[in-house]
Amino acid sequence: MDQRAIGVFDSGVGGLTVLRALRDAMPGESFVYLGDTARLPYGTKGPETVRRYAQQAAAHLVARDVKMIVIACNTASAVAVEHLRERLAPVPVVGVIDPGARALCAATTTKHVAVLATPGTVSGGAYEAAISGIEPSATVTSLACALFVSLAEEGWASGPVAEAAVRAYLQPLISPETGAPSVDALVLGCTHFPILRDAVETFLGPNVTVVDSAGTTARAVKAELRKRGLETGSAQGDVQFLATDEPGRFAHVGAIFIGESVAVSDVERIDL
Ligand code: DGL
Repeated sequence: MDQRAIGVFDSGVGGLTVLRALRDAMPGESFVYLGDTARLPYGTKGPETVRRYAQQAAAHLVARDVKMIVIACNTASAVAVEHLRERLAPVPVVGVIDPGARALCAATTTKHVAVLATPGTVSGGAYEAAISGIEPSATVTSLACALFVSLAEEGWASGPVAEAAVRAYLQPLISPETGAPSVDALVLGCTHFPILRDAVETFLGPNVTVVDSAGTTARAVKAELRKRGLETGSAQGDVQFLATDEPGRFAHVGAIFIGESVAVSDVERIDL
């Protein structure tokens, strides 16, 4: 048994969708969530920059004596998971790409699947690699949807602007011959995109299963804690929020992602 908190980090508030799933799955665990809001977005930056940012965020959490690191950011997971595992051992590191790929492969029958992610995640090919490790015959269409991050941050999850953006980005998934989607499953491969899930589902219709990595990441974290004997004995854990930019915006936008209000006084401003 280990009462220490689990460290979770993201480029900003998007990873709160993952934190929410972690808390639902493990209510007894405590979490320290770090949002690197001062340097958001990661998704349009190069791999070396993102790796450096991820290293700094993880080091900060390790200095707070967390028992595990969860990279609740697809872009950072895509470029830094192995790097952090090597450097932080024996602290376990869990990313969101493998769990997202597992959720996607479990959802497809036709093996024609799609990944929606940031440009950084798409260009590294991390989802394709993870998917082909699970389902070698899968055909993957990856689409970089950078604007979705801003839409989610603005809270514009529905309405004409969100619908137009979804139509523009997802059009390549529609077969010109049949007018129907060419895939039967899609993963929202970015922490912000679950906010736009309804708009994506409405555009693609009922024959495409839309999944995200939050639930499967929570299951992976739970399994890892059990395997290493790191589970807490507590019935109720707590959450500490850290942000590299202004706590006010973190609390305001974060509420959209975590689905409950966040008090500004509960957010500690830090420098990395
Ligand atoms: N957290 C990032 C991800 O999941 C999205 C936001 C960003 O670009 O920083 O890829």
